Amino acid sequence: MRIGILGSGLMGGKLGTLFARAGHEVVFSYARSMKKLEKLAREAQGNARAGTPEEAAGGVDAVLFAVHWSRMNDVLKRAGAMSGRVILTCSLPMNLKDTRLVVSHTSSGAEELAKRVPRARVVSAFGTVPSEVLFPVFESKRKTKRPSLLYCGDDGAAKKVAAKLIRDVGFQPEDVGPLKTARYLEPFTLLIAELAYEGAGGPELAYRFERLG
Ligand SMILES: NC(=O)c1ccc[n+]([C@@H]2O[C@H](COP(=O)([O-])OP(=O)(O)OC[C@H]3O[C@@H](n4cnc5c(N)ncnc54)[C@H](OP(=O)(O)O)[C@@H]3O)[C@@H](O)[C@H]2O)c1
Repeated sequence: MRIGILGSGLMGGKLGTLFARAGHEVVFSYARSMKKLEKLAREAQGNARAGTPEEAAGGVDAVLFAVHWSRMNDVLKRAGAMSGRVILTCSLPMNLKDTRLVVSHTSSGAEELAKRVPRARVVSAFGTVPSEVLFPVFESKRKTKRPSLLYCGDDGAAKKVAAKLIRDVGFQPEDVGPLKTARYLEPFTLLIAELAYEGAGGPELAYRFERLG
């Protein structure tokens, strides 16, 4: 597939590299310097090149949206029309300091992005979810040795693309349901991030398992 990377930082750089090494054609875009994008493309050692956001978003099968939330308007403006495009977003709706979510718990970054890009097929990916969503994942994990990567969304065609990309880079894709699951993904992702960055001084993470029904 042809995959455009909008935001070639930590997430976009790594995932774009993995996609290129898995055999996809990748366009890295949106960094502060073109030199950095060219270096990423070179080091990806696959079919990758540097381009503008417009090139990364035009004529591709899927777009990875991997910029800080505060850059969203700028990126969308530079990318141009994306209706009909499959957009995998890993962008969390955080404030500039990354200390809190800037959308209420009744929405999610993926849903807000979907409102801004009419008729795009937005898939929220990369995060973690509460236990009840994971029951079918536990079931399928018994049959596979690959680590799971969860994704959710409402569009069947877009989800097929997402699942293929996830499988290609070595994970077992686990469909955790409709886009509304993303409402749970982001607060949990934030908690995990706090744990990772703050170590022993950070918050405690507790999983509560309940028997439903
Ligand atoms: N859901 C998850 O599990 C998960 C995990 C990690 C991160 N995230 C989210 O993913 C998103 C990206 O995170 P990240 O860590 O990859 O961020 P990052 O490393 O800061 O990457 C963002 C990219 O945007 C570029 N950029 C920033 N300002 C720019 C400007 N003014 N002009 C042009 N380019 C600009 C950066 O350029 P440079 O390369 O030149 O700096 C970089 O390539 C964030 O929303 C983050 O919260 C999600």
